[in-house]
Amino acid sequence: MPASSPATYSFRAAALAQLGGLMGILTLIVVLVQLGQIDPRPVARLLALLQGGIAATVALRQHAPPWWLGIHLAFVPLVVFAQDLDIAPGWFLALFLLLLTTFWRTDKSRVPLYLTNRATATALLELLPPGFHQVIDLGCGDGGLLRRLALARPDCRFVGIEHAPLTWLVAHLSTLSLDNVSIRRGDFWTEPLGGYHLVYAFLSTAPMPQLWEKLKQEMAPEARFVSNSFAVPDIEPTQEIAVADRRGTRLYLYTLPPAR
Ligand SMILES: C[S@@+](CC[C@H](N)C(=O)[O-])C[C@H]1O[C@@H](n2cnc3c(N)ncnc32)[C@H](O)[C@@H]1O
Repeated sequence: MPASSPATYSFRAAALAQLGGLMGILTLIVVLVQLGQIDPRPVARLLALLQGGIAATVALRQHAPPWWLGIHLAFVPLVVFAQDLDIAPGWFLALFLLLLTTFWRTDKSRVPLYLTNRATATALLELLPPGFHQVIDLGCGDGGLLRRLALARPDCRFVGIEHAPLTWLVAHLSTLSLDNVSIRRGDFWTEPLGGYHLVYAFLSTAPMPQLWEKLKQEMAPEARFVSNSFAVPDIEPTQEIAVADRRGTRLYLYTLPPAR
């Protein structure tokens, strides 16, 4: 193999050299553990801590969001350290299923679970003048918001769409006694929005541009879209409401531009 000059020695080649060294040392450790020369537990812990530190450093260089640094730092060390706890494996499975059915496809939707508080629900009620209104909560979580609104406004109809199985079940069960609420399990991207007077969402920054496109296509001309905390980029809200709560919630209210 011809020698590389400083100009042709690529990062890929450097990473391969590093990987080679790493594989070598891991092989040596495995062999020593097999031969009974070293105690595998402290080695595993040390390697796990090293892995966490390296993964977090790489993530830092990738400009990953701050919470990812914590996840990278703690993930493998927690897996390794948990081996020392006397916990039946079923509990890990149960916790995994609980998290899965609550957060569902957060990796795809980029929307975690957090809930609209009481003060914001009160501010939303003020956006519903007397008379019949049909309201939809896109990703209704545990249905707590819709329950509050529905109890306060029995003359209006409330619809919630939720894709996470467990939160959907909680929403469904907790609103069963309310005739003016309907909770559906599914993907709000496939829900036609034409029949609603008020469309509400508390999502994240990620889906807002695509959601605005959907609203422009489907929302009735006189309807309003209210987004909790996340503004639609580059679109001037018709109104901005500061909720008097501790987290300083802002509601961004949008109406569609008049058709030309
Ligand atoms: C931040 S929470 C808000 C919950 C509720 N709207 C509230 O304000 O209390 C967002 C919810 O949207 C759900 N979600 C995200 N993407 C969704 C999708 N494409 N279809 C249905 N639900 C979705 C999530 O599972 C989560 O429960």
